[in-house]
Amino acid sequence: MLPAIAGSAFHLLALGIGLGSVYVRGRALRGQDIATVLRADMWWGIAAVLWIGSGLARAFGGLEKGAAYYLTSHAFQLKMGLFAAIWALEVLPMITFIRWRSARARGEAPDTSRLALLTRLNDAEIGVLLLIPFVAAAMARGW
Ligand code: HEM
Repeated sequence: MLPAIAGSAFHLLALGIGLGSVYVRGRALRGQDIATVLRADMWWGIAAVLWIGSGLARAFGGLEKGAAYYLTSHAFQLKMGLFAAIWALEVLPMITFIRWRSARARGEAPDTSRLALLTRLNDAEIGVLLLIPFVAAAMARGW
């Protein structure tokens, strides 16, 4: 029982950390607050690791209803599709923030010419993320 409890708890904690950090990242992008963008982005990365680790353990590690249940669940497939959409939206922000970090490490000012686009991508990620709990709840109840 303990691994299942831990898997569920980390999965829910990932939601709190993930939703909070991507929201703060968006506000910092609007405020051109680079230091806060990068700090929030670090927590967004931690949430992704928690989601994937606890999610895969729950789906395929025998902690919940078993792999066959999830692999044949349309809600699970939709949830994974939404998660993949977030990753696709995250490609440019991820590359950009890596470049910002190395520019700052060199003592240079990061290139902020794409702030408007990064802010829109961040908004889109929040929109998709807010859909997932609804699909996850449907998945957990056999929709
Ligand atoms: C690799 C990615 C992920 C996998 C493999 C995964 C897998 C799972 C599994 C197996 C469950 C348990 C369902 C059950 O009780 O039968 C679950 C529950 C849940 N997942 Fe995920 N998940 C992933 C990512 C996410 C993300 C990104 C979110 C963001 C919102 C999320 C939100 C939830 C929620 C809210 C529940 C609880 C549903 C409920 O009991 O009502 N998951 N997930």
